[in-house]
Amino acid sequence: MRYDSITDAIGNTPLLRIDPSVHRLRHVDLYAKLEMLNPFGSVKDRAAWSMVRATIEDAGREGRTVIELSSGNTAKALAVIAGMHGVRFRSVTNRMKVPEVKDLLHLIGAEIEELPGQAECLDPTNVDDPLTMIHQQVGSDPSYLHTDQYYNPRNTQAHVETTGPEILRDLDGNAPDYFIACVGTAGSSTGIAQVLRAARPDIRVIGLVAQKSDFVPGIRNIDEVHEVGLFDPEIYDEIEAVSADEAIDGTLELVRRCGLLAGPTGGAAYHGATRHLRKVDDQLEADGAGERRTAVFVVCDRVESYMSYFRARRPELLGDRSGPRVTATAEQVAAARTLDPAQAAAWIADAGPLVVDLRGGFAYSTSHIAGAVNVPDELFADLVRGGLPFPRTRPVLLACPVGEQSRRWAAVLTGLGHPDARSLDGGIVAWRDAGQALERN
Ligand SMILES: Cc1ncc(COP(=O)(O)O)c(C=O)c1O
Repeated sequence: MRYDSITDAIGNTPLLRIDPSVHRLRHVDLYAKLEMLNPFGSVKDRAAWSMVRATIEDAGREGRTVIELSSGNTAKALAVIAGMHGVRFRSVTNRMKVPEVKDLLHLIGAEIEELPGQAECLDPTNVDDPLTMIHQQVGSDPSYLHTDQYYNPRNTQAHVETTGPEILRDLDGNAPDYFIACVGTAGSSTGIAQVLRAARPDIRVIGLVAQKSDFVPGIRNIDEVHEVGLFDPEIYDEIEAVSADEAIDGTLELVRRCGLLAGPTGGAAYHGATRHLRKVDDQLEADGAGERRTAVFVVCDRVESYMSYFRARRPELLGDRSGPRVTATAEQVAAARTLDPAQAAAWIADAGPLVVDLRGGFAYSTSHIAGAVNVPDELFADLVRGGLPFPRTRPVLLACPVGEQSRRWAAVLTGLGHPDARSLDGGIVAWRDAGQALERN
């Protein structure tokens, strides 16, 4: 294969049949669409190129800057393509939680503007969520070319024109019975599903999101997905959630058994696919009619960028057997002690607990409970890996945006032997809504 431009190498990725002895589905042929083999490393190469190919030459001549809300693969692909055309690229993000990706973006030459985390409760008078921020910047400066991946139909269209037809072609013109994909902007799952459903109206389309309060880099959780402009619930027959642990288990099976150096959303898609199809397979076995089904899932990107993600969750996978696992079981989380804002205020007055605010520094400095110390969530994970970070003699009240991370960490501290770690139910949002006092630095 000979090319004149690296962008010509985008697409035409392999469709790989997963070894049945690995997935152990007796009546289902399971295929992986290997989007990780795109030249810049992910499924987003197609969307990025589709969004700028008509305008990037002019943008170069006119000295414009491409701007996008992305902390990961879209930013990476846009940064490379912009660089090739002598165009600057600016990534605005509120979720840069994977340091390797940030390093890579800097290396490629991207400018990064980091805003406070999306789940954080900001100053209520500040309306600058990242999308608003981008629109303000774009509105005030015509030199910006905003690709707008969450709303741009060219994102979906890339997959209508290329990814979907490739899958059909590689299955000899037959759409699969099942299509399973993770949902970030929803562009890839929507575009592919449209093509496959046109060929097979009774296809089952399963969209996968991260479990509430869990982080799987690159995809949204069940609450966030409805905020995405391209997301149309009608596309999916089912939306199912995958936990970070399940995504990692799936990734390990792909990496260790299938020869696929897939990232966590590839693992999430594989895990979600086999979990869903296991029931289908059992039914086919019970029917005994010898029927077979075909299923396709998408492997979005590669594993190398996610080492800190694995280290934070399963240090033993990277050879580190020193620290305890910084997770708690669902039962431990359910059993964690929680206090509503009024109870918490009374407890602070009576027992004088150490109040730990888990939000980012920006949100903390804007408003926090009097006397609270700020240990952002990521830092807390590092601290806990070293063992119990607080004396057992003083009770601890943990506070996060909405009471989910704090509950998990309260369970972890209890598991590590702290006698009285509690979580602020509903987080700082509930505290503020209950009219409890907050102070500003
Ligand atoms: C690693 C990863 N997996 C999956 C997705 C989901 O793709 P889409 O945005 O097309 O829904 C993304 C999107 O950003 C991603 O970065």
